Amino acid sequence: MAAHPHDHHHGPLLYINQMLDCYDISPINGFACGGTSITTFADPSFKPWLQTASNLPNLISSKKLRSTIDSWPHLSPEQLVSLEEYRLAYLLLGHLVHAYIWANLAEESPCPRIPAPLARPFLEIVNELEVPLGICFASTALWNYTLDSEGKEGCVVGFTGTSDEVHFNLTSRRVEVAGAEALTAALKAARVAARTDKETVAEVQKLLKQVAQSLGQCKVELLKMKDGLDPAIFYHRLRPYLVSSQALPDGVVFVTDTDADDRYQLGGSTGGQSSLFQALDILLGVQHSDASGRAQFVQSMRRGMPSGHARFLEDIRVLPSIRTFVQNQVKAENGAEELVATFNAALDVLKTYRDSHVQVVTLFVVTPAGKTAAADGNNANNPGSTANFDESGSTEPRGTGGSELFSLLKGMREDMKEARLG
Ligand code: HEM
Repeated sequence: MAAHPHDHHHGPLLYINQMLDCYDISPINGFACGGTSITTFADPSFKPWLQTASNLPNLISSKKLRSTIDSWPHLSPEQLVSLEEYRLAYLLLGHLVHAYIWANLAEESPCPRIPAPLARPFLEIVNELEVPLGICFASTALWNYTLDSEGKEGCVVGFTGTSDEVHFNLTSRRVEVAGAEALTAALKAARVAARTDKETVAEVQKLLKQVAQSLGQCKVELLKMKDGLDPAIFYHRLRPYLVSSQALPDGVVFVTDTDADDRYQLGGSTGGQSSLFQALDILLGVQHSDASGRAQFVQSMRRGMPSGHARFLEDIRVLPSIRTFVQNQVKAENGAEELVATFNAALDVLKTYRDSHVQVVTLFVVTPAGKTAAADGNNANNPGSTANFDESGSTEPRGTGGSELFSLLKGMREDMKEARLG
């Protein structure tokens, strides 16, 4: 952590803004910052990357994507001139890697062998930026954002060319932006909780109310997902590109033309990689148990985050605990009923968010999966279902990150009850 958590030279606000900056997090937009504000490269030799990415949906449908990438010239990221350009390249090439693997899955087999003109620069960029290989929630949602001079929002790159995909990405990002205030308020509360003066209780209480209010807004934004995303388009057209590579038992080969071509597993993109909800769990004292496998799930999702965000989640564990502070007020018989109620209310709003998320998952994953299985009589011929269904033959839908959906999502909700006080 850049500044020591007990450093009292600045007030909480300044201290927190400085700290967030070190992890590529913004006090205004939370984890949804640090992407790219450019959509083109200074050096015209990168044109093949831009042209292929902007034409991605057409190249997929005309079945020319793979041959186009195979014939790319070798371009080195050393010619990229700024961090912004590196990030733009990461967004474009990451989408192209996933498209290369999963293009036209209904008719063609996946192709888990990324050719050198794409593999080599992409591996270098990923190492340089310390970001997940392939796509991740940051590259499809958090950073995949453009704002034109008329104030119209859009995405840098997409697989399907549909407005549904743009809506999916922008809505996911809006959930994150709506939660930025919850993040900063909870961080401030953790910092204030280290103090012992008599204003502390009132201050923590005020901040917990802000946490609850902001999380309520996350839910409002999440529920707007249905206003522009058709479940069939999401499930059948977009989701096949978002999946991890776990359906490919030997992983994905990145051809580098060196002696050994390395094999990798790609994590895909899922809201489970949202650092916001992991951060709030930590700051509010919600624990996910090892025995249930949920602690491992939470850890595994961090491999799908930019390194700064994952490091932030490690580092905030040492901050003073808001929950312990509230508990101590109860022990000291400080008339803490209102504080306890406010703390519980913040947890309850987070739980309500998770209730709404389960509804969203039902609408966009479970229902279309059920319809497909019913139409097929079983799921064996379901295009794109390899990553969505358990190899054991279980028909329980699995998430894009590959989890047994319901036991996981319900368990994450149950864990919130344990954190309540009183
Ligand atoms: C169409 C919209 C969405 C669908 C279908 C969906 C689906 C899923 C699925 C299947 C999982 C299980 C993990 C896995 O991928 O294996 C999951 C987990 C999760 N998703 Fe989403 N998701 C959606 C939108 C979002 C958004 C917008 C966010 C937040 C910005 C989000 C946050 C989370 C979180 C935090 C988890 C981890 C479980 C938890 O903490 O309760 N999801 N989601």
